Amino acid sequence: MHIDPLERKWVQVSLGMCALFVSIIMLDALFHGVNAPSNVETIDSRKIHLSEEFGEDNLGVQVAENGEITVRLVAGRYAFFPKEITIPAETKITFRWVSMDVLHGVHMPMTNMSTMIVPGYVSQVESSFPRPGEYPMLCNEYCGLGHDHMWSKVSVID
Ligand code: CUA
Repeated sequence: MHIDPLERKWVQVSLGMCALFVSIIMLDALFHGVNAPSNVETIDSRKIHLSEEFGEDNLGVQVAENGEITVRLVAGRYAFFPKEITIPAETKITFRWVSMDVLHGVHMPMTNMSTMIVPGYVSQVESSFPRPGEYPMLCNEYCGLGHDHMWSKVSVID
């Protein structure tokens, strides 16, 4: 069977690209493991309430001695805990979420905030909010019959 040399060349190029992509994926899996492609930090979902970091009295907004602000939230059917947080505008804020049951998501309309909350992992996002106002923090992964009602209020103040 005759194959045009130019066509043969392009077949080789495309096969070479496939081989390159597959080997990048394989190498990445070898060195980084097969994980959610984000902050890879594990936590036992069944023992969240017993953990120091995500215990009930440690949730919400915390300001460290050096001024860094961290917000810790627990997602569970069908709410984020706490239900309301207040944070300053134009300040870098580190959000850390865990799920106590199933897969949830978090989305804040009109901001760049969006991530998945996978049971067994800590989801971490850094963000800042230039405009003061009230924002809903919505669950954007279907998690059950009460999914529509799963949200918290975020107040961004000057
Ligand atoms: Cu939680 Cu949908």
